[in-house]
Amino acid sequence: MKILIKNIKQLVQVEETPRLKVAGKDMNHLACIADAWLAIEDDKIVGFGKMDDWEGIADWTNLTVIDATDKIVMPSYCDSHTHIVYAGSREGEFVDRISGLTYEEIFTRGGGILNSANKLREASEEELIESALKRLNEVMLQGTGAIEIKSGYGLSTESELKMLRVIKKLKTLSPLTIKATFLGAHAVPAEFKNNKRAYIDLLINEMMPKIAEEKLADYCDVFCEQNYFTKAETIEILTAGKKHGMTPKVHAEQLSNFGGTLAGIEVGAISVDHLEFVGDAEIEALKNSQTMPTILPGAQFFLGLQHPPARKMIDAGLAIAVASDYNPGSSPSGNINFMMSLSCINYKMTPEEAINATTINSAYAMDLSKTHGSIAIGKQANVFITKEIPSYSFIPYSFGSNLIEQVIINGQIMSQ
Ligand code: NIG
Ligand code: FE
Repeated sequence: MKILIKNIKQLVQVEETPRLKVAGKDMNHLACIADAWLAIEDDKIVGFGKMDDWEGIADWTNLTVIDATDKIVMPSYCDSHTHIVYAGSREGEFVDRISGLTYEEIFTRGGGILNSANKLREASEEELIESALKRLNEVMLQGTGAIEIKSGYGLSTESELKMLRVIKKLKTLSPLTIKATFLGAHAVPAEFKNNKRAYIDLLINEMMPKIAEEKLADYCDVFCEQNYFTKAETIEILTAGKKHGMTPKVHAEQLSNFGGTLAGIEVGAISVDHLEFVGDAEIEALKNSQTMPTILPGAQFFLGLQHPPARKMIDAGLAIAVASDYNPGSSPSGNINFMMSLSCINYKMTPEEAINATTINSAYAMDLSKTHGSIAIGKQANVFITKEIPSYSFIPYSFGSNLIEQVIINGQIMSQ
């Protein structure tokens, strides 16, 4: 199967020399080709260039030609932080927050993550697969081509394994590229309320060996926060996860400055995520690390938290990734177009920075930047074609609009 997209108004995020990530001032640069063509063969990108330099195609058999006059082509987004396997929803808590309760108050009353855990424990694998597939399809049509999915609503050996097996199944059922993360340390479940030590021992001694044996997770994550897990516990859990072959990630500095970023850097985390309360010490430490600071604008917006200092971080020379955090409690949307609007409007990131953050840098945060996150020869043919729009800046500018007309995943045209 071959696809030729021709007359592309703007082919965005092209790479002649592959990069793993883009940092600091370079984030404000986005390589584009005006009036371009893009060729795909099977599931890979095999060529691109200017229409003026196009020499035609040697073999026209089995070729689909798409005319993208006045349309923009972009590499699919990489969403490096989601919790899209869940049961039920939490709009009741949304209304409670409107009436004045905080996210933390809801959690200490047994709601929040524990509310989702109660619902997930009741759900069958089949139900979880069906609802997650719907969400995957939804975000695919919104431009996402690769996605990380976390466990963390099971909070028992049986239910965490159930979640991770569901994610493993989704890898075979969905065309999207999927990475799995073990987030048993998302919260201390009610049964261990007065014995957190025993729960951490269960995570390390019972859950991790089973997860490693079935090869169920690429990453291990911890919610490092007051009332959840301390910095020392985060380091302990992530160090154990590494011994079981899982690369660390951290939910860090979301509700307070609590040590998650420094914990993540210490154990060599691939990313530290949220960062509303990140300070100068963390920014300095991130500069000397390979860890990708990841901003989750949906959760910050939905919970009404203070803004993460994204501008300050980029100006300090850091790379930044942006992801959706799609989950029922703090970000019930996986729409990366909207995440980019929030990044530009609220954090003063430029459209170029926002696109780098949701493509190549978020690919890095899930070990995919060699194969995803840009238009480069040999990379996975995951791209989308917009409706007729004037420029790529129109995407974050038109918040809330659906501007994506056609999605290609693994070289296959997906139906809208
Ligand atoms: O990334 N911060 C912790 N975990 C999720 C929220 C999970 C939930 O409320 O269900 C987050 O925001
Ligand atoms: Fe999260």
